[in-house]
Amino acid sequence: MRKPLVAGNWKMNGTRESARTLLDGIKAGAMAVNGAELAVCVPFVFLQQVQEMLAGSPIAWGGQDLSKEPKGAFTGDVSAAMLLEFGCRYVIVGHSERRTLHGESDAEVAEKTAAALEAGLTPIVCVGETLEEREQGVTNDVVGRQLDAVLARVGSAGLGRCVVAYEPVWAIGTGRTATPEQAQEVHAFIRARVAADDAAVAEGLKILYGGSMKPDNAAELCAKPDIDGGLIGGASLVAEDFLAIGRAAGGN
Ligand code: PGA
Repeated sequence: MRKPLVAGNWKMNGTRESARTLLDGIKAGAMAVNGAELAVCVPFVFLQQVQEMLAGSPIAWGGQDLSKEPKGAFTGDVSAAMLLEFGCRYVIVGHSERRTLHGESDAEVAEKTAAALEAGLTPIVCVGETLEEREQGVTNDVVGRQLDAVLARVGSAGLGRCVVAYEPVWAIGTGRTATPEQAQEVHAFIRARVAADDAAVAEGLKILYGGSMKPDNAAELCAKPDIDGGLIGGASLVAEDFLAIGRAAGGN
């Protein structure tokens, strides 16, 4: 049985004050989220505050990116060890905004995944096709290629310590969600691809859906057999919406 995970991706949003209000709200409702784990992935500068506020709560936290390097002359970057020092369990790797806006290649995403695993973090590895790619009918080729790069670097045993997030780029922040059937099809493809290497890893692998997941579509998406929760952008900035998605994913 895979316990669903609902992870918030705050992206570049918030202030100290709004973060405090949001975390208070999530904490207040977290006990009512049975059956799903909650996590928030926040901008680096909020990690200390998040650690102080969430320590001892059932809510985990993480970063939104990391360096593939352990330390050194990499201005602006943050290492896996730094994230660990601030109590992170998770780190998002290869989000489409990093791939597109920062030119992160499949190989770089694989290196970052390896760096996170080596440090003991759980990478949330994002894969997904653009609208153009979907319309060209190459969704599985793209997602398969992105996944294979990570598999080749960390092996199926490494992937078994990751969470995968399928995020169709055309559904991110657009209000346009993949239908549960469209999402399930890709999730099943991902699981089958991993199963070809290692059936037990595939069976245990959490595959999240991301892309305009909201309280009103979360239950239907998460009811699909290969959808194990969500990576939530916009709706994770509103405590009640985030909690409602958590409750839906957990089946309560
Ligand atoms: P969204 O973002 O929920 O706002 O579509 C999801 C993501 O990019 O992780």
